[in-house]
Amino acid sequence: MAVIILLGAQWGDEGKGKITDHLTRDAAVVARWNGGDNAGHTVVWRGQTFKFHLLPSGILYEHATCIIGSGVVVNPKTLLGELDNLKAQGLPTARLVISGGAHLIMPYHIALDGASESSRGEKKIGTTKRGIGPTYADKAWRAGIRAVEMLDLDHFAQRVREQAEARNIWLTQVYGQEPLDVPAIVEEYTEYARRLAPMVGDASLVINEAIAAGKTVLCEGAQGTLLDLDHGTYPFVTSSSPIAGGACVGLGFGPKLVDEVIGVAKAYTTRVGAGPMPTELHDAVGDHLVEIGHEYGTTTGRRRRAGWLDLVILRYAARINGLTQFAMTKLDVLTGLDPVRVCVAYEYRGQRLEHFPMDSRVLEECRPIYEDLPGWDADISTTRSLEELPAAARRYVQRVEELTGVPVTMISVGPAREQLIRRRPAH
Ligand code: GDP
Ligand code: IMO
Ligand code: MG
Repeated sequence: MAVIILLGAQWGDEGKGKITDHLTRDAAVVARWNGGDNAGHTVVWRGQTFKFHLLPSGILYEHATCIIGSGVVVNPKTLLGELDNLKAQGLPTARLVISGGAHLIMPYHIALDGASESSRGEKKIGTTKRGIGPTYADKAWRAGIRAVEMLDLDHFAQRVREQAEARNIWLTQVYGQEPLDVPAIVEEYTEYARRLAPMVGDASLVINEAIAAGKTVLCEGAQGTLLDLDHGTYPFVTSSSPIAGGACVGLGFGPKLVDEVIGVAKAYTTRVGAGPMPTELHDAVGDHLVEIGHEYGTTTGRRRRAGWLDLVILRYAARINGLTQFAMTKLDVLTGLDPVRVCVAYEYRGQRLEHFPMDSRVLEECRPIYEDLPGWDADISTTRSLEELPAAARRYVQRVEELTGVPVTMISVGPAREQLIRRRPAH
């Protein structure tokens, strides 16, 4: 048995969905603890591509209980859409528990996200416009609507009416927008609540009972360490806690129960949205990473920014999360590049920086200091053991381990479930 936290070590889209899907084979519970449908987690199984925004990526296995924790913000319409989709394909969805403490994303949150981004002009964050920031803001402001409120439909309808009316004042008077149709929202969302209510439960209880019974619990992070509200590249971050500590907060279990913390990291770096990114490339190598790696957003379809692997970031992720292992994804995408470069430190105003800076404005001025490593040409997408990899690819993985102090226990060489090199069991 084990409690495993799996999270993004960079700016999201590291391939968490793929690794979660793989590890669910041995897990009884798979739980999302943060974010909402800003996430887009891809699972490729039996030649079919699934994109999950809210459902944990373990949902394709029949044996696992899937949990949406209190730290998640839930768009009821998206969630029902995902469930309906799976049901239409004959896939089982009965094992879902939505924590009563999860907050609901309402149409006014989405409208406010869009209005706030527009009003920022040049300084926009580049959010996914899914209403994430305003929903977490309402939560912190103690004005949010929680999943547990869906259990009493009269109460729920009244809360939706009150909140929609209150937020309409912002929309019209602060942002000069048209008001939303409150009665229509109340009607639509009461129907969603009626459908979702049977799935609402006590996620913390389910998880702690599973742990007590000796089962394996896999916690699936959304976004990534550098998008963390407290420890990421503020203000170019999301509004939740994608870091390891967030799992205990968002799911309701104690930190001493955690056995392994797996950081999922691409073999290079990508970012979607605004904000500094020291290793970003605007050349043919950047185009190679985007085109060969299909670096277009799962949720918004935006072209991701891409560049060499940044080990200052991975060392930071190791520290912030207490990583016990890395899962390195998309190593196959580096095939054909020579040399392959890794950023080992930054140069800032003539000084060498070994540690990730706290201020995004400093990061904006940081220039990467690279170490060049030999590349490889052979197709590695069918390799299933370290020994089968070309020596240069092995050297690359080894260098990451040396420079971060964290073992790389999994190496992903393609999008499908089986395209994975496992060097040892996850726990
Ligand atoms: P997530 O948000 O962290 O789950 O990652 P996304 O699903 O947004 O983006 C990862 C993309 O890379 C998806 O299209 C995956 O199918 C794909 N992918 C994952 N692992 C690999 C890999 O090892 N090689 C390749 N070529 N693609 C991968
Ligand atoms: P997964 O789970 C990559 C980014 C947005 C934007 C910032 C804030 O698939 O890795 P938000 O809508 O959250 O207020 O946007 O965060 N962002 C992500 N980038 N992967 C994600 O999720 C992301 N979720 C949010 O692009 O820069
Ligand atoms: Mg994604």
